[in-house]
Amino acid sequence: MIKNQWYAVLSSQQLKQESLVAVKRLGIQLVFFRDNEGVAHALMDLCAHRGAAISHGKHMGNTVQCPFHGIEYDKTGSATLIPANGRNNTEDLKRFHVRSYPVREKHDLIFLWYGDGEPTELPPFFEELIDKGDVISEVFDPWNVHYSRTIENQLDVAHLPFVHHNTIGRGNKTLVNGPKVIWEGEDEFQHSADNEVDHGQTPKKNEDARIKNSYMRFHFPNLWLNRISEKFRILGVFIPVDDENMVFMLRLYNHVTKIKPIDHLVGFLGKRANLIIAHQDRRVVETQRPKRSKLKMGETLLRADKPLIEYRKRRERLISLGEEEKEI
Ligand code: FES
Ligand SMILES: [Fe+2]
Repeated sequence: MIKNQWYAVLSSQQLKQESLVAVKRLGIQLVFFRDNEGVAHALMDLCAHRGAAISHGKHMGNTVQCPFHGIEYDKTGSATLIPANGRNNTEDLKRFHVRSYPVREKHDLIFLWYGDGEPTELPPFFEELIDKGDVISEVFDPWNVHYSRTIENQLDVAHLPFVHHNTIGRGNKTLVNGPKVIWEGEDEFQHSADNEVDHGQTPKKNEDARIKNSYMRFHFPNLWLNRISEKFRILGVFIPVDDENMVFMLRLYNHVTKIKPIDHLVGFLGKRANLIIAHQDRRVVETQRPKRSKLKMGETLLRADKPLIEYRKRRERLISLGEEEKEI
């Protein structure tokens, strides 16, 4: 895992007011909650007393209550009440603390800071998705793979005519031009598919290939934009769960007709279609070994793999910058 990064880990819709949401993210069992102002917080889901899952307890407004002996913790993870000691006895409180994690919420996403350093500002979001009058629909799909494999699958254009031969890869365009990769700053790059039917022609080199109008952008550590058209874009969020699991969140943004009920229908159908496509991918990606990718691990890569090679290179560099000790 790349340290000192903001990871999008939940959709805002998944964290309702007055509820406790238990999820494993980045290998850590967490409980998310909103305070009385609606601000999202995350604590380790492990009571400091005798290890019960706090998420099975109660939302108490600005605190959460452990289900076992009722100890309450605030957003910083400090105990505010130990019922067995009595309301007036605050002596013992400072001995009880659970770890809290920095959380920010923007663009209907909840971001978690993973690392040792001080949290930075949230990175910029894809401008293609901001304030376009879109209807938004989303779906969550668990995959039994390390999140890096799902990212690489979205960067891979050579698989389209095989894995998706009857959907988005129709037409037998097996020959891959490029693909071209254009970096936009340190944390983001753009690429697109430029495939053709193989008539015996020589594929274009990476630098000579085209970035088409339907392009894709990846932003470290776990966001991806698939701009199908100005009116229809997909946000992919690769949510790391642990070494061998992730959740693929697909969020569709559309203003195809600008008539809301129709755009809602487009979103609903688009969501289902994208899930079918994702499952075509998942079937194959879950068979890849090892579950987590690395830059050098004995695979024999192709020119067509350039986007994922670029991803791996930058990822390894960011990992070493974060002085990673234990990668997941
Ligand atoms: S285990 Fe949580 S209060 Fe006792
Ligand atoms: Fe695919």
